[in-house]
Amino acid sequence: MSRIAGAPDSVRTAILPVAGLGTRFLPATKAVPKEMLPVAGRPLVQYAVQEALDSGIERVVLVAAPGRDLALRHFARDQELEAALAARGRSQAQAEVRMLATFGERLTAIEQAEPLGLGHAVGCATRALGPGPYAVILPDDLVLGHAPCLRQLLDVHDRLGGTVLAVTSLPPEELRNFGVVAPGVDDGIVVEVQGLVEKPAPGSEPSQLAVVGRYVLSPEVCAALPTLAPGAGGELQLTDAIAATIGTTPVHAVRFEGRRFDCGNPTGMVAAGVAVALADAARSAAVATSVRALLSGMDGEQA
Ligand code: UTP
Repeated sequence: MSRIAGAPDSVRTAILPVAGLGTRFLPATKAVPKEMLPVAGRPLVQYAVQEALDSGIERVVLVAAPGRDLALRHFARDQELEAALAARGRSQAQAEVRMLATFGERLTAIEQAEPLGLGHAVGCATRALGPGPYAVILPDDLVLGHAPCLRQLLDVHDRLGGTVLAVTSLPPEELRNFGVVAPGVDDGIVVEVQGLVEKPAPGSEPSQLAVVGRYVLSPEVCAALPTLAPGAGGELQLTDAIAATIGTTPVHAVRFEGRRFDCGNPTGMVAAGVAVALADAARSAAVATSVRALLSGMDGEQA
């Protein structure tokens, strides 16, 4: 594995790009931004902010489309609601609403005027914030596991510096939708990245290791963002900025522990909702019964 000279700068800020059009989720995303769609009762953005803070991140910056910063309201203090919940004895709900406001103290938003691609969205943030390093979480990739996925990447960054990507092994037919890694030295968990291709043509994939929505970006990647030219799909691709630094700055991929759900499409979100509910001790038995009943062709209510 290649190492960066000296101790790597610690990563204090996470960027959450949420300014995409969310076309795979229309019509739901016509009025409601995708990051506000719920998985088992909580919006996607709440899982992402929770993961960032659980990973030791101090500040979260949303990159939102103009006028679509509903997430800021989700994390704003609402004393009237807290009082109403207290009056009804709903102490658990009150505590969660209060907790959201403490998350909100760490949260700001900036605008991406036009959805020109993920590389452009991250570039809008780094232009405002400075040279980096930064963590990036895409809220529509939900990862459930014991250790927060971003924390696993940060641990590798603490050791090796540079850029660190989350990867998962996918079947060949799915790789055309992802950035795919050309691997070098591989210890079974951490993989040296020798090349990176966004949305490879079928048959040209360098491996089955697909990049999913967690990154630690080196200052060199941040510096490459303003120079991006349109790439795959005509968009400014974050993958291309990372690829431009390979050979000069360490880039590693991590086979993270945890299960990833693609909540950018309705099927993935349904699966994530069932997984979250099954992991919740208060709900798991009832949900398991309903799922079993559905799978065996019966109506869950009658089971
Ligand atoms: P996606 O590739 O899922 O695109 O973006 P999308 O527009 O949200 O969804 P579809 O494909 O049209 O259904 C991955 C992440 O990058 C953000 C998205 O909001 C999502 O969190 N993104 C994408 C931006 O913030 N700006 C962009 O220009 C593009």
